Parts: sequence; C-alpha cells; structure tokens
Amino acid sequence: MITLQNPLDMHIHLREGEILKSVLNFSAKYFSGVLAMPNLKIPLDDTNSILKYKKEIENTAKELNCGNFMPIMSIYLSESLNKNELIKAKKEGIKILKLYPKGATTGSENGISEILNQKICDIFEIAQDLGFILSIHGESNGFSLEREFEFGEIFREIAINFPRLKIIMEHLSDRRSIDLLKYDNIFATITLHHITMSLDDVLGSGLNPHYFCKPILKTKKDRDALLNLALSGDEKISFGSDSAPHLESNKLKQNGAAGIFSAPILLPKLCEIFEKHKKLENLQKFISDNARKIYDLQNIPNKTITLIKESFKVQDFIVIGDDRIIPLLAGKSLSWRIKDL
Ligand code: DOR
Ligand code: ZN
Repeated sequence: MITLQNPLDMHIHLREGEILKSVLNFSAKYFSGVLAMPNLKIPLDDTNSILKYKKEIENTAKELNCGNFMPIMSIYLSESLNKNELIKAKKEGIKILKLYPKGATTGSENGISEILNQKICDIFEIAQDLGFILSIHGESNGFSLEREFEFGEIFREIAINFPRLKIIMEHLSDRRSIDLLKYDNIFATITLHHITMSLDDVLGSGLNPHYFCKPILKTKKDRDALLNLALSGDEKISFGSDSAPHLESNKLKQNGAAGIFSAPILLPKLCEIFEKHKKLENLQKFISDNARKIYDLQNIPNKTITLIKESFKVQDFIVIGDDRIIPLLAGKSLSWRIKDL
C-alpha cells in the first residue's frame, strides 16, 4: 500500500464540452490540481476566456462529485498577446505562459514562428518582471526525431537572456535535453508515456496511432534515461502527463491526431513502475512535492490518495456520442489500483 499526498499533474489537455465531461473525473477525483493547457479550438490567449474555461472545469468537477480540486490555468502565447493582457492575467492568478512553436503540434496554429524576435523577447521580459513561468513545447520544425534536440539552442538563449524567468521544458523526450537542466532557471516535466515507451511502440509492429504523440516517442535509450531521471525524484522535475484525448475517428483519419490519453491509468501505472525499480519512496516528490516548489503553489486542496497492490483492468474505451476515446493500455491489467475513496 502507498499513500500519496496531493497529487499534481502539471500538464494536461482537458478539452471542453462533451469531452471535458467524459475525461475530467479521471484527473479531478485523484489529483489535487492539474495545469490545464490552453490549446483549445479557439486558443486561450485572453484572461476572460481563461476564466470562463476555468469555471467550466470547476462546474464540471462539481457535477461529477470529484471533491477538492484545483484547475491551474495557463495563457497561450499568441502573436496578439500584449503587456496589458499579461498584467490582467496575473491579477487573476494566472501565472503560466504557454509557448507553442507555430505548427509544432495539435492546436499550435496560433503559436509563434520566430521565437527569438524582438516582439517575443519583449514579452519574455514582461513575463519575467511579472513573475510568470514560461512553459514551452520545445520542438523545431526539423527532422521529427531531432526536433527537441534542435530546440535546445532556443532554451539556452532564453535561459541566459532572462535569468529570472523560470522556464519549463515540457514533456522531455530526448535524453540530450537533460543537460539543459544545468541552467538554474530551466526545469522540466516528464510524462508517463515517455518513460515507458519508445518509437517501437508506435511503428515497430504495425502502425499504432494511439501511441502517436508530440514530441514523438524516441529510442529506448532516451526512454531509460528519462525514466531514471523521474525515478530519482530530482527536484527540477515535475510530473506532467500530457494526457491528450482525441476521438478515435480523428486518430484513425485526419492524418492521425497526435496525443495519448493516459489520464485513466496515471497513478496505478506510476506506482507499478516506481515499485518495479524500488524507488517508491521518490514517487511523492515526482507526483507533488517538486511541483509545489517549482511553481510555488499555495493553497492546494488536500487530497490523500491510497493505492493498493491489487489488479486493475483498464477500460477499453470511453463513449463520446457515436465515437470513442481509447485510453493508453486499454484492456490491459495493472498491478496497482486506487483504493476507493
Ligand atoms: O501529443 C500531443 N498532443 N502533444 C501536444 O503537444 C498537444 C497534444 C494535444 O493537444 O493533443
Ligand atoms: Zn501537451
């Protein structure tokens, strides 16, 4: 048995409307708080829309009887974002600024194409002064397996030029990125899928679109290096699932939407891995304590989650109208389960 205090998922796509209603319980019941990504169909680059979305999440969590739960909001860095909007957002308690390179992933059409140009550097300066945390989807538009590594240059430039700005490398996927953690102001999140799977799972035996995500899963060496980093409880690393539900029809058609829906299995699977590697004692840091410090999170609602070593079968799918969403490890059995609250 293990007890986790106040689990936090520092990177998740909750979507909106019907999908939100169908996926939120997996997070809101078992996590004290989650950092909700702003890449909705209409990107959340203004305070009013963010507050409206926050209300939608809170109301849905109430309807679903999820107990104490805090959505942590982020603002989308689009070309139209300006100083006044950042000031307004900060006043409303929004302190995460999310940067997507234009075209890098789902919902990044309104992202930034020239990240180091003057206008965007001015935004970084303002963000630094206001105490924002800059969360970055770090991928270039180069060869797909090199994208995160190539983006390293940009991380370096921002870290050096804005030393008081906290920068989060989101969803680490390439072991060469780990070196960037030597900069005092660079931190990272790590997903479940990047520490348990490799490119072989996507295309090693038939093409599996459900394991297709951005950044793409890489080599087994990358997976293992990131796994060891997560297991170590390193204080610069928070857990961020990047759980990203897509309708099955969009996964199978439309060129294969990128995103892995891992929310239904996160805590049991993490227990399984940390136990297997005899590092259960570090799970609390990875799942909550590090994030509380890095993001300076106050007033997190209290939640105590107990997991027991009993078999748990992952559901095959979630029905959405006449479509479905397929979770990671659908139909498989895990060796830990969450004890009923
Ligand atoms: O695989 C991904 N899916 N990566 C992202 O960065 C976005 C996400 C989504 O929103 O579906
Ligand atoms: Zn994401």
